[in-house]
Amino acid sequence: MNYKKNILNLVSALVLGSIVFVACGDSQSPGVEYMPDMYRSPAMEVYVDYEFPDSATSRKAPENSIPIGYRPYPYTNDLEGFELAGKDLRNPLQLTERTIKEGKKLYESFCAHCHGKKGLGKGSIQNAIYGAVPSYMDETPNRRGNRSMRDLKEGHIYQAIMYGLNAMGPHSSLIREQDRWKIVAYVQTLQGKDPIAMQQDKDAVKKDTAEESIESETN
Ligand code: HEC
Repeated sequence: MNYKKNILNLVSALVLGSIVFVACGDSQSPGVEYMPDMYRSPAMEVYVDYEFPDSATSRKAPENSIPIGYRPYPYTNDLEGFELAGKDLRNPLQLTERTIKEGKKLYESFCAHCHGKKGLGKGSIQNAIYGAVPSYMDETPNRRGNRSMRDLKEGHIYQAIMYGLNAMGPHSSLIREQDRWKIVAYVQTLQGKDPIAMQQDKDAVKKDTAEESIESETN
């Protein structure tokens, strides 16, 4: 009886052993994969051929993808984009006294050293290239040639923050979207306007854009 049992043990040991050795026989084979996610990362790995036609593992994002938290800005950095922004772009914030106050603080950090606290173009930075900082109250045509600083609409001012102009660098990477709009509202007060009243009075905005299209027809 004992002898038989020993033989049985020996046979099963041989069978098991051969399975183990067969698994190890092919050096390229990983053998049985228990929970393959632990072996194979679901993320793409470098130097692995995934059989893309161009063989590059680092794939480009599909066209027109938008990063999380990023909002595309459709207006181009040229006269046409500037005019379109002026015509269509509106401040998305509900303006209150508080917004203006916050805008003032931001303006004093980001703009006043060139444009001056009161927006008269007399900031603390005095340099020949910044010497020509125009006042927001200027009624003469600015260097773009077709409109005065006082005439700039909220969209124009936003566009100026996004792209800058000549000696003024772009500020889009320095100031968050909401804060840009707060600054815009404050700059409007420096133009002698009342952005809160203008926002509340939708007819005034319509009238403003109507005048706009008449202007651009005559220009
Ligand atoms: C480094 C100095 C400097 C800083 C900082 C600066 N500006 Fe300017 N800005 C200028 C100059 C110079 C011009 C005139 C550019 C020209 O006409 O060539 C100008 C022009 C403008 C214009 C008119 C643009 C146009 O299209 O006619 C606006 C609006 C404006 N700035 C707003 C701002 C705001 C808002 C800030 C702060 C976020 C700011 N600027 C920061 C120097 C500066």
